[in-house]
Amino acid sequence: MSGNTRRDFIKKAVAGTAAFLAYPPARVLGANQRVRLAMIGAGSRGQELLRQVREISDAELVAVSDIWPRRFDEAKQIVPGIQTFADYRRVLDMKDIDGVLVASPLHIHARHFLDTLAAGKDLYSEKTMTWSIAEAEQCLQAAKRSDRVVQIGLQHESGGPLADAKKWIGDGIVGKITHVESWMSRNSPHGKGQWVRPVPSDCTSQNVDWKAFLNGRPDTGFDAFKFLNWRLYWMFSGGNITENMVHQIAWIMTALDLPLPSSAYMSGGVFSEKDGRQVPDTIAVTMDFPNDVVVTWQSTFSNSRYGLGEHILGSDGTIEHVAAANDMVTGKSEERIQYFPEEVNRPGAAALTGQTPTGNHMANWIDCMRTRKTPNAPVEVGYRSAVAAHMANLAYRQKRRITLEEAKAVQPEF
Ligand SMILES: NC(=O)c1ccc[n+]([C@@H]2O[C@H](COP(=O)([O-])OP(=O)(O)OC[C@H]3O[C@@H](n4cnc5c(N)ncnc54)[C@H](O)[C@@H]3O)[C@@H](O)[C@H]2O)c1
Repeated sequence: MSGNTRRDFIKKAVAGTAAFLAYPPARVLGANQRVRLAMIGAGSRGQELLRQVREISDAELVAVSDIWPRRFDEAKQIVPGIQTFADYRRVLDMKDIDGVLVASPLHIHARHFLDTLAAGKDLYSEKTMTWSIAEAEQCLQAAKRSDRVVQIGLQHESGGPLADAKKWIGDGIVGKITHVESWMSRNSPHGKGQWVRPVPSDCTSQNVDWKAFLNGRPDTGFDAFKFLNWRLYWMFSGGNITENMVHQIAWIMTALDLPLPSSAYMSGGVFSEKDGRQVPDTIAVTMDFPNDVVVTWQSTFSNSRYGLGEHILGSDGTIEHVAAANDMVTGKSEERIQYFPEEVNRPGAAALTGQTPTGNHMANWIDCMRTRKTPNAPVEVGYRSAVAAHMANLAYRQKRRITLEEAKAVQPEF
């Protein structure tokens, strides 16, 4: 497909779904009425979300949509009796559904996001909010035009450590913050590529609605490996930036109340997972923010020693948030957040350990569906973290530092 045709297609695809401007009214929920939910995309994450919802007593899982019937059997093992649909639009047609959980692959999020709002449903959409900056803009506008409750699956926004970090920064004990360093590292056994899923025998062109999966991408014939391993290809994914950095950049942007980055640079490559994937496994991102803040994020898939974390570096103190790192004393992994004063500017001040318990992100959405309050990871957080993530990937793909204005002007390419 030529560049122009591709661009036309993207415009039409998204414009088609965004065409519904008059949102139907939501069902009015009685105080004792259970919230009725449906899901689009019941794969690996979708099934985790089904289990999360199952634990919430005032919510009921009614229907699931997927383009591979195997997922119906899997969903029924979690929620016996759940209704199943091959076409997600049939789910959106159901008048008595209050909210929809979207856990489809990244390149279809925007379509499912826009159509869910257009159908008048509240929305829980997995991260990253969209595959491109243009789509992020459209979803943000659509959410602002509607009165629907939108929660993005950035669950660390409901975490206790974020509340602790915000409090310490708000209290002024960190001082002027000029740099945040963050990292995320993993490893896998030799010969087993990170993320790679084997293809089961029922993953065939007869069983899978390949056209629906492509969502307008050029069709080079059914490819079961790509269908299952969409994370490895730019056409469907943003790689580890949209899989993992997005969680941390959202967390950092919320903690420091940062606007969009002014520029981004990303180096790295496919250095350890030479299995034909397009998205890099070794990454170093630098993001400049207005008001003198630099955020760095580093990641590898071939060393897991330091797990995942953030260091917020201030003139008066340091916030250290680490998760899944090897604890050298006990050998156990854990998440913790601590504050350490800078002796030169806060002599004699005490170190602190965060104590705020982590909230239930799913329950927060369902609660907000009743109260109509803003959830912990609203569309603005989804938007800002998506734009930051796409800026990093655009810089990598264009092999140069990219500004926000330049990134916004880039037409998405397959
Ligand atoms: N928040 C988190 O911590 C977290 C963790 C893992 C994954 N995720 C996100 O969840 C999403 C799904 O990831 P996954 O690993 O579950 O992928 P997956 O491939 O296992 O599942 C996606 C499902 O969507 C279905 N699907 C594809 N196209 C569809 C369409 N047009 N209509 C309906 N269903 C369709 C597929 O058949 C599949 O069952 C991704 O955006 C990923 O980033 C979030």
